[in-house]
Amino acid sequence: MLKKILSKSIAIALLSLSASAVFAGEVEVLHFWTSGGEAKSAAELKKMLEAKGHTWKDFAVAGGGGENAMTVLKSRVVSGNPPSAAQIKGPTIQEWGDEGVLTNLNSVAESEKWNDLLPSVVADAMKYKGNYVAAPVNVHRVNWMWLNPAVFKKAGAEIPKTWDELFAAADKIKAAGLTAIAHGGQPWQDATTFESIVLGTAGADFYRKAFVDLDPASLDSEAMVKAFDMLRKTKGYTDKDAPGREWNMATAMLINDKAAIQFMGDWAKGEFTAAKKEAGKDFLCMPAPGTAGMFTFNIDSFAMFELKDEKNKAAQVDLAKTIMEPGFQEVFNLNKGSIPARLNMDMAKFDTCAKDSSAEFVKSAADKTLVPSMAHGMAMFSAVQGAVYDTVTKFYNDDAMSSKDAAKALASAVKAAQTK
Ligand code: GAL
Repeated sequence: MLKKILSKSIAIALLSLSASAVFAGEVEVLHFWTSGGEAKSAAELKKMLEAKGHTWKDFAVAGGGGENAMTVLKSRVVSGNPPSAAQIKGPTIQEWGDEGVLTNLNSVAESEKWNDLLPSVVADAMKYKGNYVAAPVNVHRVNWMWLNPAVFKKAGAEIPKTWDELFAAADKIKAAGLTAIAHGGQPWQDATTFESIVLGTAGADFYRKAFVDLDPASLDSEAMVKAFDMLRKTKGYTDKDAPGREWNMATAMLINDKAAIQFMGDWAKGEFTAAKKEAGKDFLCMPAPGTAGMFTFNIDSFAMFELKDEKNKAAQVDLAKTIMEPGFQEVFNLNKGSIPARLNMDMAKFDTCAKDSSAEFVKSAADKTLVPSMAHGMAMFSAVQGAVYDTVTKFYNDDAMSSKDAAKALASAVKAAQTK
């Protein structure tokens, strides 16, 4: 009897093993999520794919903002050996679409009802010529300011709402021998602070004209000169070790009570969360001064490449499917600091910052104050973005360059990059 039961269960086990082996494939996923909070988030996707029987081949390329990752990706695709998926977003998805190397995800999008589940601003970004080629994991809000209330208290400074209040508080923090603004001097981080300043000082319409329409008169304008002035002013409150610092090391300065403020998207919250810090108590999230009610969005997504191997193709479809499942969207975004890309998700487990972000995302879309992040590849093609980065960083690192010259240089660099 026992023998019979045993052989039957062995047979069943073998059968299911061979069934999963038939459909199991490998997914190679290129991403740049290597900081504490980011790595935890990526690990959730790996876990879910492995639970479906697939093999996860991690292709992580370190470097915040993803510049290094994009360089590595190009060489892989050019040599005819693309990964299954890569963390590509915004207009760059269109650039890869033009290369004819992305695969069509319409059938999984249709069966899983992506059109009904995604806000149109997200769905549109995932499509190339009307066809789904990418799957969204989240929506990040970039125009955040992170604060350490203990550092403010120690310096006897008030939590600021306006730029004037911010600089008044920063003076006190500096006088107390602490770092007021934690910054990492890398082009994408300079650009991150700069776009929040532009939005906060000149508003959403101006931001759109400058960074989406690339209007020369807005790029070289009095408002842009003022924004450059303000960027230079913030630099005066950073520490001497800022050049080259990774963004998560800047966040760590807040976590370790060494600095008061960081301008950064809400992936910074992933670091606070990983360090077991509590929103509203150990750290505060506030929109950068002047940007309350506005939202610079940054949607992380995985674009999928055309593959040859049938098993790996099936695994790729499972990857796309998993990314959009509510279970993944919840656990990933709890770790990542962002909000789910899917509509109508239960936000009960999320903290106050994420709840605010979720409400502001919907409200800013209605108020027309929802704008794509320039610094995070959502607003313009990569060559133009590179031109903006170069100008902003040159200005940031060269105190002899005037704000007027920077605005002029910005307009001409953007024009040159467009005609390339
Ligand atoms: C952003 C990306 C985020 C985060 C950050 C730092 O561009 O969208 O997911 O990883 O860079 O690397």
